[in-house]
Amino acid sequence: MSIRGVLRENRALMWLYSMLRDSFGYANDKRHGIETESVDSFRFRDVCADATRYEAVPYWLLKRIVQVVKPCPEDVFFDIGCGKGRALAMFALCPIRKCVGVEIDPALAQVAERNAASLKGRVASIEIRTENAAETDYSLGTIYFMFNPFGAATLAAVLKQIRESLAKQPRKICVVYYNPLHLDVLRAELGLRVEVRTEKHFPWRPQKVAFAWNDSQKE
Ligand SMILES: C[S@@+](CC[C@H](N)C(=O)[O-])C[C@H]1O[C@@H](n2cnc3c(N)ncnc32)[C@H](O)[C@@H]1O
Repeated sequence: MSIRGVLRENRALMWLYSMLRDSFGYANDKRHGIETESVDSFRFRDVCADATRYEAVPYWLLKRIVQVVKPCPEDVFFDIGCGKGRALAMFALCPIRKCVGVEIDPALAQVAERNAASLKGRVASIEIRTENAAETDYSLGTIYFMFNPFGAATLAAVLKQIRESLAKQPRKICVVYYNPLHLDVLRAELGLRVEVRTEKHFPWRPQKVAFAWNDSQKE
C-alpha cells in the first residue's frame, strides 16, 4: 500500500502527519519572522462565489518553485490570492524587482502586511492589494503564482486580464498554478505552453504544479 493509502486508513498516523506538517510550517515561520500557519474558513463567498479558503503553500514546495522559475532582478512576482503572504515572503528573499499580493479578505491581507514588515532578510519590496483578483491590474507582473485560490469562473477572468495585459505590453511571463484543479481553463485562456510537474518530498504526498511559460528558454 502507498504511504498515502496508509495515512488514509490510519487516523492516528494521519494526525501525526498533520502535526509534523504544521510544526514544520511553524518552525519555518519562526525562522523567517512571519506567521502564516492555520486554515481559515470561506468568508468571502458573497464577493467571489468560487473563492477557496486560506491554506498556506508548503515551504518545501515553494523552494522547488523558486528553483524552477529562477527569478531574476527584473521580475515582478504576483501571488493571486496571497492569504497571509507566505509565497510573497519567500520570493521577497530573492533579488527581484517587487512582490505584489492580491487578497480579497481584509483580515488576511492585514496579516500579509504585518508579515511583509516583519520578514527577516527581505530583499524585494512587498505590496499588498486588498481587492478581488478578477479586478486587479496585472500589467507589472512577470511571475504569477496561484495556489488554487478560486474556481473556473474567477480563474478564467483573471487569466483573461493577464492575457490582455500581455497583448498590450509583450514580455516574458510564467504562471505557476499549484493544485491545478482547473488546468483546462489555464490551457484555454492563456494559450501558452503548459508543463505539469509532480513534486515529491518524502514521505509527504506528491503535489502537482502547473507552469505556463511564454519563454522557450525556460524548461
Ligand atoms: C489556498 S489560499 C492560498 C494562499 C497563499 N497564496 C499561499 O499559497 O500560501 C487561497 C487564497 O485566495 C484568496 N482568494 C479567494 N478568492 C479570491 C479573489 N477573488 N481575489 C483575491 N483573493 C482571493 C483566499 O481568501 C485565500 O487566502
